[in-house]
Amino acid sequence: MIKRTHNCGELRLSDVGKDVAVAGWVRSYRDHGNLIFVDLRDRYGIVQLVFDPEISTAAHDLAEKVRCEWVLASAGKVRPRGEGLENPKLATGQIEIAVSEAEILNVAKTPPFEIEAAQKVNEEIRLCNRYIDLRRPVMQARLGLRHKAAKVVRDFFDERGFWEIETPMLSKSTPEGARDYLVPSRLQAGSFYALPQSPQLFKQILMISGMDRYFQIVRCFRDEDPRADRQAEFTQIDVEMSFVDCDEVMDVNERMIARVWKEILDVDVALPVPRISYSQAIAQYGTDRPDVRFDMKLKDISDIAADSSFGVFTSTVEKGGIVKGLCAPGGAKLSRSDIEKTLTAFVADYGAKGLAWAKVVKSDAGEMSLGSGFAKFFDTARQGRIIERFGAAQGDVILLVADKADIVNKSLAALRVRLGRDLKLYDENRFDFVWVVEFPLFEWDEDQKRYDSLHHPFTSPIQADMNKLQTEPANVKSQAYDLVVNGSEIGGGSVRIHNIETQRKVFELLNISKDQAEERFGFFLRALEYGAPPHGGIAFGLDRIIMLLAGTDNIRDVIAFPKTQRGQCLLTDAPAPVDKSQLEELNLRTKIPPAAGE
Ligand code: AMO
Ligand code: AMP
Repeated sequence: MIKRTHNCGELRLSDVGKDVAVAGWVRSYRDHGNLIFVDLRDRYGIVQLVFDPEISTAAHDLAEKVRCEWVLASAGKVRPRGEGLENPKLATGQIEIAVSEAEILNVAKTPPFEIEAAQKVNEEIRLCNRYIDLRRPVMQARLGLRHKAAKVVRDFFDERGFWEIETPMLSKSTPEGARDYLVPSRLQAGSFYALPQSPQLFKQILMISGMDRYFQIVRCFRDEDPRADRQAEFTQIDVEMSFVDCDEVMDVNERMIARVWKEILDVDVALPVPRISYSQAIAQYGTDRPDVRFDMKLKDISDIAADSSFGVFTSTVEKGGIVKGLCAPGGAKLSRSDIEKTLTAFVADYGAKGLAWAKVVKSDAGEMSLGSGFAKFFDTARQGRIIERFGAAQGDVILLVADKADIVNKSLAALRVRLGRDLKLYDENRFDFVWVVEFPLFEWDEDQKRYDSLHHPFTSPIQADMNKLQTEPANVKSQAYDLVVNGSEIGGGSVRIHNIETQRKVFELLNISKDQAEERFGFFLRALEYGAPPHGGIAFGLDRIIMLLAGTDNIRDVIAFPKTQRGQCLLTDAPAPVDKSQLEELNLRTKIPPAAGE
């Protein structure tokens, strides 16, 4: 067998004259009769081979047979390409290899799609044939980037004394708000393991055990509907530290993120990362995942709208709702149908019943006022107050939604992101990070009529609010923080409860009875009684970080073997039915009738 001396991406003009051997996949071939050109591809690049019968008839005869994606090894001499035949798009474009010996290492069926054109191929076909899809240079680059980012993370934490410690995959449920994946036990009939939604309780127990600083790049499982930035099986960078407060956790972790951005993209993240409180984020951006690359903050004008003559506004405020909106700079270029059809339908998806609008105009005398739309319901003085509140200028459009606060905020948050993009209010290559802090500890679940944790039940209240736990739980703030970049939540964590009494109190407020707490978290509560140090941590979504670094908005692009929106692996056909005997061994019976013929 020809022994490879170089890869397909590394030969340059400085290598001319060397005897080399390369191996890879045939990307393309061109038969010019006496000369055959083959582009050979591997993970490192593409190199041109020339088969000339005057150099070797045997190699030339063999080259006549090769087809795309065959596996080929070739040895020969590096020479410069002929004048005008250089390919500036290839790193090896100045040279070619004049082949003296070749060997077909394997043949291949005609691929189901052309690799170079795969971007246009339906994603399902690509996922079914992932081995071909992953031959695409762009996919290989993404997986390489993922490897490198993970290594930067490991090095960063290693340098600071963090240990990577593995936690179990077959375990008990950890509450992170999703459904569990269950694995039946053969030895304990009728019992199930849960795959971890996160290593939350294990990492806290590691702190109780005195491990001091832990991290893990770890697979987590959540049975929820996959979305563009969500997979049922995904990877976290999971971190926990002892004897720390929020500031220390945020400080170390923003440095870690800055290191990743620097080493992968050569982008300097300005530190410290700015912080915004949850309540400010909701007020100004309508969401706890603010995209701070552009301004266009939301403003509440309920006070001005309350005594306007617009019935929709006055009745909304009377019923306890709000009137809020945004001022789109240069939005006057939006047509009436853009606003009344497209944008109104867009906010309707978030529950908004309408989208009131007015353009900001300037009279010849230089007076600013509102024109058309809802303007007629506001007198000159009130129009002036609205213009002032938004800091609006001529040519802007003010867009308002009146409703219950959560509908107003959700719809305007989405509208803001959309208009920011449509009106090109930011540079697409920017990364703007922000910590969202001071989350409420609980949120009220109107359907279930009970409190829910905003993060998870192990999050500590802020010290000053401890005494409010009993009296006004809705107003208790937590020591939690989320890291958001360009409107995407990449990480979240908190300082934890390390006091057993506080932990019991929180379970009680969450309507988790003593018995339930014992059954679900007994092991953890016992651990808390044996000298738990103050501790806190965070987890980042590695896949989401790689998406941002790779500039893709599809999480499947950064995972070698991802699942579809329906949770299927099209390559292996998982999930799949199992043999009856396997079910019997596990003492299981399904309600689904067996397929015909069984
Ligand atoms: P959380 O549930 O916020 O916190 O998860 C941490 C981060 O993981 C990413 N993430 C996901 N990525 C892809 N697909 C998913 N289905 C998915 N779900 C979450 C997000 C998120 O910010 N134990 C806590 C952390 C802690 O308190 O230390 C936890 O898991 O980027
Ligand atoms: P209508 O009276 O329904 O024809 O609505 C008149 C204008 O007010 C339209 O531009 C609607 O989009 C807008 N509108 C109606 N309801 C609301 C609402 N709840 N919030 C904001 N604008 C609204």
